Amino acid sequence: MNPPLTTWPTYDKGDVFLSPEDIAAAMEALRAQLFFRYDFRPHEETFTGLFERRLCEVFGARHALACASGTTAITLSLLALQLPAGSPIACPAFTFAATPSAILLAGHRPVLVECEENLHLDVRDLRRVLDEGAKAVVVVHMRGFASDMPEICRLAEEYGAFVVEDAVPALGARLDGRYLGTFGHFGAFSTQSDKSLNTGEGGFLLTDDPEAYARAVVYSGAYEGRMARHFPGQVPDVDDRAFPIFSFRMDEIRAALAGALLQRLPDRLVAHRRNYDYVAERLADLDGIALRQPVAPGAYLGEALVFRLPGAAPRECAAFAGAVMAEGVDARALGDRDDVNVRAFWNWRFLLGDDPDAARSLFPASARYVSEAIDIPLSANLTLADCDRLVAAVRKAAARRPAAETATAATTTTEKAVAAGRAASR
Ligand SMILES: Cc1ncc(COP(=O)(O)O)c(C=O)c1O
Repeated sequence: MNPPLTTWPTYDKGDVFLSPEDIAAAMEALRAQLFFRYDFRPHEETFTGLFERRLCEVFGARHALACASGTTAITLSLLALQLPAGSPIACPAFTFAATPSAILLAGHRPVLVECEENLHLDVRDLRRVLDEGAKAVVVVHMRGFASDMPEICRLAEEYGAFVVEDAVPALGARLDGRYLGTFGHFGAFSTQSDKSLNTGEGGFLLTDDPEAYARAVVYSGAYEGRMARHFPGQVPDVDDRAFPIFSFRMDEIRAALAGALLQRLPDRLVAHRRNYDYVAERLADLDGIALRQPVAPGAYLGEALVFRLPGAAPRECAAFAGAVMAEGVDARALGDRDDVNVRAFWNWRFLLGDDPDAARSLFPASARYVSEAIDIPLSANLTLADCDRLVAAVRKAAARRPAAETATAATTTTEKAVAAGRAASR
């Protein structure tokens, strides 16, 4: 096992947002010795059923299904839409490899869409993909920043395409007061360790469509009439023997933990927001870096700080991340050519082949913006002293950049507009 390179708090070094009540809830489920969600108890007395009901209350959704992971939540959403096998499904070029993987798992064909300078899905490029026949779009709120959901939903409707939100990185974030994951036909979430609810692994989906929900429930592994338990009233006319079952269920132990964590989600969201805003405010004036701009004020979670070094070559971005690391703060250059970061689409060999240059040439805008991006994790447990350390580390790395390379930064009209808008929108 590789030792951690810094002591910067991250989930894979044991940093958790856990209270004694959360541990007690998991222990209660363990002691009950009933780990399977579909046992003899009434649905509403199971931890999984309770978690789903609470999710509906919190998110204002009609239906929620707890499942095994974020990947399976996306897959179940797509399966439930009943699209013809092999349908082209759009997703952004900037996402974790799990998004196109889920599209493949559902039996479809991922079609990538460019991202724009703030690393959001480029809505203009989405039109191209819809013109070419995409039947659905899996929008990703990558690193907690909302995509432009009103515009994307309007465009998808124009083409009769479904919208599934991969809200995995943005659990609890809102856009114009509305939770991400509630704009599309389905919203998919993860409760893996790095997310706003941490049950080790796990996930859930939300939808307002009862029939599609019933199909998702069956696909997730509700056999022999168990799907009906999810409907206290009228059960949709969905034949549970007409679909294969994939055992993507959540178990009772995780659901108990998730239910307890959900009570404290507001505290965690406040901590993320406080840390992000504190850091972003103190870096907003720094020459040569372009902080990501949200699509609307406050439309981000704050669990990561992502900024670009406009005009910088990949090796310079890698050196910048290395300089931040040297100050004890985890940082990664997303486009580091010596890294195998699977948030860089050219590393998706399963989809785009073995030649990274060829893959990059297919999506030049995304290749550029991802290559210029620096990614720093922001734990909810950071103290303001940690945040100060981060700010100092980034400032020091920026000060060490070669003058010739910083001079090329922020030179295009768009970059200048981004720079000018930076202070105004925060
Ligand atoms: C954008 C995105 N989508 C999907 C996933 C997959 O979630 P899970 O690991 O729960 O399958 C991840 C995981 O981090 C992710 O970052």
